[in-house]
Formats: sequence, C-alpha cells, structure tokens
Amino acid sequence: MTDSLIAAARAAQVRAYAPYSKFRVGAALEAADGSVFLGCNVENASYGLTICAERAAICAAVSAGALRFRRAVVVSDVDPPAAPCGACRQVLAEFGLDLPIDGVGLTRTVRWQLSELLPAAFGPEQLG
Ligand code: THU
Repeated sequence: MTDSLIAAARAAQVRAYAPYSKFRVGAALEAADGSVFLGCNVENASYGLTICAERAAICAAVSAGALRFRRAVVVSDVDPPAAPCGACRQVLAEFGLDLPIDGVGLTRTVRWQLSELLPAAFGPEQLG
C-alpha cells in the first residue's frame, strides 16, 4: 500500500543539502486539515547552523499558518530508523505531544508517540 505522507517525505529527502554528513533526512507533517508540509536537512559550512528536516518542516507549516498536526514522518537511510533529535522533539512538542511519528528507514518503519520520545516535556503551559 502506498503511504502518501511517506512518499512526500522521501521526495523532500531527495532535496536534502547534506554535503558534510551525507546523512539525508526528509520530514513530512500532516496538519489537522490534511495539508502537508515538508522539510529536509540543510547543512552549513559552519556546522552548528545546520537545520534538521523536522524543524524545516515545522517552519514551513507555521509560516503557512498551520499550528495543529495529526501525523509526522521522518525518513532516512538507516535501519533501525532514525528518530527525531532532541532539539526537534522539543520544537515539535510546542504544538502538542499527542503526535504519532513514523520513523522510516531503509527497510523498516517504527511508530512513536512524541509524548514517549519527550517525557516530562517542558511546554507552553509552564509559562502560564
Ligand atoms: N538530522 C535531521 O535532519 N534530523 C534529525 O532529527 C537528526 C539529524 C540531520 C542533521 C544533519 O544534517 C544530519 O542529519 C546528521 O546529523
């Protein structure tokens, strides 16, 4: 069965700019209204300025006015599939911990809930 969100994340992965690590990542976010936002990792010669695929997707979504999400997909070329890094977990959590995330590797897919990837999260509710 074709999963269109995974296919979209794969299409974004092709556009990854990863000349340093060669580790190409694609992300797709499905908003509450069904619209889809994509991101890929964008590396920089000043390595620490690299932007992960997930955060690129969040920025695309928020820039288009989407703030509620029902599913995320992260694709890379490793098995077991790579999960979002800690920084991306925190940025995703800003918009809700109730988010299924599919990590897609070369041959395997793993599903996590953001709430399990970022337990005891700090979030907007702490700021009153
Ligand atoms: N990367 C992502 O795009 N998302 C993650 O969650 C983990 C890491 C990227 C950053 C960098 O370009 C490359 O993968 C290797 O760390």
